[in-house]
Amino acid sequence: MRIDILTLFPEMFHDVLNESILRIAQEKNLVTFHLHNIRDYSNDKHKCVDDKPYGGGAGMVLKPEPIFNAVDAVEAQGDSVSKKILLTPQGNKLNQKIVENLSEETRLMVICGHYEGFDERIRSGMNVLEISIGDYVLTGGEIPAMVIVDAVVRLIPGVLGGDRSLQSESFMNKMLEYPQYTRPAEFRGMRVPEILKSGNHSKIKEWRKKKAVLRTQERRPDLLEKETQ
Ligand SMILES: C[S@@+](CC[C@H](N)C(=O)[O-])C[C@H]1O[C@@H](n2cnc3c(N)ncnc32)[C@H](O)[C@@H]1O
Repeated sequence: MRIDILTLFPEMFHDVLNESILRIAQEKNLVTFHLHNIRDYSNDKHKCVDDKPYGGGAGMVLKPEPIFNAVDAVEAQGDSVSKKILLTPQGNKLNQKIVENLSEETRLMVICGHYEGFDERIRSGMNVLEISIGDYVLTGGEIPAMVIVDAVVRLIPGVLGGDRSLQSESFMNKMLEYPQYTRPAEFRGMRVPEILKSGNHSKIKEWRKKKAVLRTQERRPDLLEKETQ
């Protein structure tokens, strides 16, 4: 998969993209990341990318021209069309289903906003998937872009060592994951459930399934309701 990230702050991505699973995914040639500074695509001699809002009001709005220029130029660099993601708190709220669908694409372009956000024509004049990472407002789209990239890349087949572990993860089966334990068997008086030490794999599977259902009922009954709808 090729992932292009359009941002005013490309330096913010360096450590995140080059550590842990995202680094390994690149080493395995399963993903390539391409960072593009939106400012480089401004026609303005001062490389200005924002301006005051028409009608007045606080803050600055990202102008359409640098972003359209950047999207056109970056799109032309690859040999396939990108699925374009516009990051905005007004978009569809990110969930594991959206992440799964995105992980099947061959090319993604992630467009990060800043300041007061985008000129409306960026949203309406481009074929974009508008995504929010939650009902709160961040300073810019860089952290949301990192969230999406991380969630998507780990689902690309071959990225995680044992893809088996994905199957039981929270949200994969519209359920939360069962409780996990590791050594020591007892810590500050709290014991690992005996069943997990029994070596009886079918009983352990049964226990985990029961715990996953219970945990989901207690914490996220909405997930089970969605399942039965
Ligand atoms: C300060 S926000 C702009 C918010 C905008 N004025 C509004 O009220 O909808 C600046 C940029 O941060 C990003 N952003 C902020 N919160 C976000 C969220 N919850 N999900 C995705 N992107 C977000 C977007 O790219 C947005 O254009």
